[in-house]
Amino acid sequence: MKLLNLTSLTLVPLTLAATLPKIRQASEPLLCSAASSQIATNGTNSTLWPWQTYKSSDAVPPVLAINKTGDALFVGLIFFDASLGSSVVATKEVAPLIMTDTGDLVWNGPVATTQAANVRVQTFNGSQVLTYWSGQGTAGTSQIVGHGFGEIVVLDTNYTELYTVCPKLSFNLPPNVTANCVADIHESFITSRKTMLITAYNTTPADLTSVGGPKNGWVLDSIAAEVNITTGEVLFTWSPLAHLKVNQSHYPLSGAGLNQSNPYDFFHINAIELVGENYLINSRHFWSTFLVNPKGEILWEINGETGGDFGTLPEGGTFSWQHFARVQQLNSTKALVSWFANNNDLTGQANAKPSTGLSLLLTLPPNATSPPVLVTNFTNPHSPVDAWSQGSFQYLPNGNKFIGYGSNAVIAEYGPYTNGTNGTEGQVRWAASFGSGDLVSSYRAYKQVWHATPATKPSLVVLQAASNDTLKHCAGSSTWRGYVSWNGATDVTKYIVYTGSTNTTLTATGQASKTGFETEFVVPSGAAYVQVGAVENNGTAVTRKSSVVAVGNS
Ligand SMILES: *[C@@H]1O[C@H](CO)[C@@H](O)[C@H](O)[C@H]1NC(C)=O
Ligand SMILES: *[C@@H]1O[C@H](CO)[C@@H](O)[C@H](O)[C@H]1NC(C)=O
Ligand SMILES: *[C@@H]1O[C@H](CO)[C@@H](O)[C@H](O)[C@H]1NC(C)=O
Ligand SMILES: *[C@@H]1O[C@H](CO)[C@@H](O)[C@H](O)[C@H]1NC(C)=O
Ligand SMILES: *[C@@H]1O[C@H](CO)[C@@H](O)[C@H](O)[C@H]1NC(C)=O
Ligand SMILES: *[C@@H]1O[C@H](CO)[C@@H](O)[C@H](O)[C@H]1NC(C)=O
Ligand SMILES: *[C@@H]1O[C@H](CO)[C@@H](O)[C@H](O)[C@H]1NC(C)=O
Ligand SMILES: *[C@@H]1O[C@H](CO)[C@@H](O)[C@H](O)[C@H]1NC(C)=O
Ligand SMILES: *[C@@H]1O[C@H](CO)[C@@H](O)[C@H](O)[C@H]1NC(C)=O
Ligand SMILES: *[C@@H]1O[C@H](CO)[C@@H](O)[C@H](O)[C@H]1NC(C)=O
Ligand SMILES: *[C@@H]1O[C@H](CO)[C@@H](O)[C@H](O)[C@H]1NC(C)=O
Ligand SMILES: *[C@@H]1O[C@H](CO)[C@@H](O)[C@H](O)[C@H]1NC(C)=O
Repeated sequence: MKLLNLTSLTLVPLTLAATLPKIRQASEPLLCSAASSQIATNGTNSTLWPWQTYKSSDAVPPVLAINKTGDALFVGLIFFDASLGSSVVATKEVAPLIMTDTGDLVWNGPVATTQAANVRVQTFNGSQVLTYWSGQGTAGTSQIVGHGFGEIVVLDTNYTELYTVCPKLSFNLPPNVTANCVADIHESFITSRKTMLITAYNTTPADLTSVGGPKNGWVLDSIAAEVNITTGEVLFTWSPLAHLKVNQSHYPLSGAGLNQSNPYDFFHINAIELVGENYLINSRHFWSTFLVNPKGEILWEINGETGGDFGTLPEGGTFSWQHFARVQQLNSTKALVSWFANNNDLTGQANAKPSTGLSLLLTLPPNATSPPVLVTNFTNPHSPVDAWSQGSFQYLPNGNKFIGYGSNAVIAEYGPYTNGTNGTEGQVRWAASFGSGDLVSSYRAYKQVWHATPATKPSLVVLQAASNDTLKHCAGSSTWRGYVSWNGATDVTKYIVYTGSTNTTLTATGQASKTGFETEFVVPSGAAYVQVGAVENNGTAVTRKSSVVAVGNS
């Protein structure tokens, strides 16, 4: 609901801008400017995906290889990460990212080693915040496969850190793993009661005889926890080991569970959401989603094979190895629940099935005589993706849907559900790759509205024009070019350019329209010093200025 309001707000200035005559308020001449990013590729190495480079920033985000139909997209930014799918270095850098659906970088978050996860906008205390997971885990650390140990970073709209959520949980860590915080990568859901729901993986002794393992075996008890954001104090925990039988798992034991360094990941929690006062908890390895009350009692289970408490699943509505369980609509008699239905894990790759954006309408209370009804099972029939891990399926405020294909480096936006016209599969309107196959992954991907003004300064460098410079034709007498970017700024529309013969006598001598992540502009002739000031939202006031840069001295 919050997002819907913000969306309509952002549309207002655009509509006004389109109907008002285009009068430039400032008197400085408009300088030639262009988006400056260069595509870098490593021709000798087929696994390393192409990346973008800039002059004013060392960010190296992936190139988005985009297909689109031209149909209306949700107006928002894309939040995802470029993480490693294995030990192969297949992306130039691992980091949380914000990009536009035209492939321009907006924010390059802190560089990570193997895994960045779950960057997205949430609401805390009535304000928009950016949250992401930071720590060690998944690919690259042999003892931490498919989960992680770390903290949840909460930034404000200036990218200033508000909190680092480190749950106060005493856990057994695998041997040789040291971590100050044990928040797992999978969930960091901020509730309306100002708490955060997190997942955390505890190495725990368990009797594994029911699955053919040792009596004194070890499992990963992947718990759901609700924590105080400011203190990390734990307000609620739910342990699958305490409430469910290990032999309900679909995950093969495969020799695991013998010792503490190779525990059996029987449940694999990966999503939690607060629904009223209850917790919706998703288990990849049970192929089930549970509704759990504050006492820890299971109120119901929907299972992707049997339907669980809800009765036989409809054709096209089964699921397995699924992620991102979310309640989209709820009243006393119906719940519309959605998932990213992976439908694959690594062991079944020979019989790969397309992953789908699945939604089922459930009857409440569960009653097998009123079984679930299929509402969506979105897939791209022309380029189906069989994602064996991770992934997300987001309902967008304008009716479109957004899918992050997790282990496979693809994100896609679908048109709204059109039952009766085009069935339940949806129509893909936009799809992008940012890596090759499953060598690069993004745990989830979101499209959201976000307005941010970084606390840092815009970054400016001034360089001699290259011989193939795209602004040659309009360069006038100057051969100097300014390159300016402002990592994370969402609303800059132009830069005022100040020049002077000394570094204390700068005056506004031009303006450059903001283009792409980094704007290249022609430096007015005769300038010995240059500075730029960022102007947001087509206004006239300068929000922040860069440092003063000496021409010939960048
Ligand atoms: C390109 O790949 C080769 C082979 O892995 C590597 O040695 C080289 O450093 C890479 N070059 C760049 C620019 O990344
Ligand atoms: C590609 O380059 C990366 C980074 O240099 C390296 O780790 C990887 O092994 C290379 N892959 C191939 C196929 O050469
Ligand atoms: C832990 O580290 C030690 C020393 O590096 C090594 O000998 C041992 O094999 C490691 N244990 C595990 C379970 O990886
Ligand atoms: C979190 O802890 C702080 C400090 O004890 C307290 O003021 C605040 O009310 C707590 N928040 C919640 C949601 O419990
Ligand atoms: C979607 O559901 C329909 C039934 O409505 C089914 O025929 C189709 O195979 C399903 N597609 C996928 C990708 O699951
Ligand atoms: C609950 O939702 C369903 C489907 O969304 C609708 O048909 C039904 O009328 C609603 N019931 C109530 C009590 O609002
Ligand atoms: C399930 O639905 C049937 C048919 O509507 C009804 O007769 C029965 O009482 C329901 N069972 C429960 C447990 O509510
Ligand atoms: C979608 O269309 C099918 C076939 O017309 C129908 O059986 C089903 O109930 C519809 N689903 C919804 C959610 O309207
Ligand atoms: C249904 O699919 C056809 C063919 O792909 C397409 O031309 C048409 O626009 C779609 N209709 C709707 C309402 O999405
Ligand atoms: C884009 O289209 C091409 C050609 O149909 C296809 O091979 C590719 O998989 C598509 N990319 C995505 C991300 O769907
Ligand atoms: C943070 O951004 C807001 C606008 O979003 C602005 O009013 C405030 O001055 C900024 N603070 C800093 C430290 O940049
Ligand atoms: C200009 O030349 C450089 C060096 O050859 C190349 O990397 C770059 O892509 C070229 N730029 C344009 C705009 O053609």
